[in-house]
Amino acid sequence: MSEQLTVELGERSYPIIITATRDEHDIALNKYGGMVRNTAVIYDHNTFKNCLNRVPDQVVSIGFSPGEQTKCFTNLQRIMDEMAEARIDRGGKLIALGGGVIGDLGGFAAASYLRGIDFFQVPTTLLAMVDSSVGGKTGINIAAGKNLVGAFWQPQAVFICTEFLKTLPPREFAAGMAEIIKYGMLYDRALFDQLAALEEPLSWEHPALPGIIRRCCEIKAEVVKADEKETAASGGRALLNLGHTFAHAIENVAGYGTYLHGEAVGIGLVLAAELSVRLSDDGAIGFDFTAEDAAAVRKLVAANGLPTSLRDPIGGQAAPALDLEKLLDAMRRDKKVRSGRLRFVAMEEIGRAVTVADVDESWIRELWTASRG
Ligand code: NAD
Ligand code: GLY
Repeated sequence: MSEQLTVELGERSYPIIITATRDEHDIALNKYGGMVRNTAVIYDHNTFKNCLNRVPDQVVSIGFSPGEQTKCFTNLQRIMDEMAEARIDRGGKLIALGGGVIGDLGGFAAASYLRGIDFFQVPTTLLAMVDSSVGGKTGINIAAGKNLVGAFWQPQAVFICTEFLKTLPPREFAAGMAEIIKYGMLYDRALFDQLAALEEPLSWEHPALPGIIRRCCEIKAEVVKADEKETAASGGRALLNLGHTFAHAIENVAGYGTYLHGEAVGIGLVLAAELSVRLSDDGAIGFDFTAEDAAAVRKLVAANGLPTSLRDPIGGQAAPALDLEKLLDAMRRDKKVRSGRLRFVAMEEIGRAVTVADVDESWIRELWTASRG
């Protein structure tokens, strides 16, 4: 049985189709043209092995090594060259089958090739299902930083199949849970409470998973509809970065790949909760975020197998020692910084987030110091 919701963006609106089995997924994909002539499909070697049945001869099939380093200019050029060689024309399409790495790379290739061709997202990680496949942010990394080159290019459709998660390593599944918890914290108290009340952590076959993925996609769709290109002066799409200013600094200072993005977000969510307590205690208007709320956030993050502080082990290894000044410096260089001001997303209460400009840097220093222990 498949379910559908729509990302409402006027003439660029598109469906998100959620299925539970690969057979249902194939039927849904075929309805949208599927694997036919004038189509390229890109994947990494894990998603090829685990998530692709077969690629018909007439389809251009392009595989990459798994990992963040795949999101680069060389691979972008390779996609362009192979599509041009196969004479994919303006009526053609690109299907990205994989996690956020393949989705971001494929989306940017589709946005650029012949000044834009149709693009279909087939996310195969939990993170990609609830976050990166929806909303049209595409791009690659350059030496100066992650995601610094890219385009907004909305897909024509997103096909989510929970059976793909069967082979996803547990550490990657947990990383996706960080983004799910994030949606509850920033937008939906009922979702947060639902996650907190689960007797055992979610898994690919948990009966609640499809509904929870759907809710996250609905939230992302609502936020993106209101502020597609993240230009709102406050709030808007930037709210989806709850915990991410901290997380990006952790990933940057530890070296990309040490922490999975979702693991860094786990710590970032706890720090964002503690910042929200500070703002409340300081009398910031609208803020009523208590120490008990912060404890509930920490408990939920930990219950999903994610680190909650810079002291927690990562991937079975002791936590790397991260230099405080480098963490602060990385935050100042974050691309979300506007006019040199540190901006954060904080919660007035669980389920209601706002952007906050000009946070006192000494607070951030103290939060990092406590997290390092
Ligand atoms: P990823 O794409 O690297 O996938 C993680 C790992 O899981 C890879 O080794 C991959 O090969 C493997 N894998 C994927 N699906 C599998 C499956 N079904 N079975 C077995 N193995 C599987 O990582 P990710 O966490 O999905 O995405 C991270 C990327 O997403 C980052 O580059 C980040 O910048 C980007 N991102 C983009 C957005 C956006 O809005 N565009 C949002 C969040 C993150
Ligand atoms: N992941 C943040 C965004 O899509 O805006």
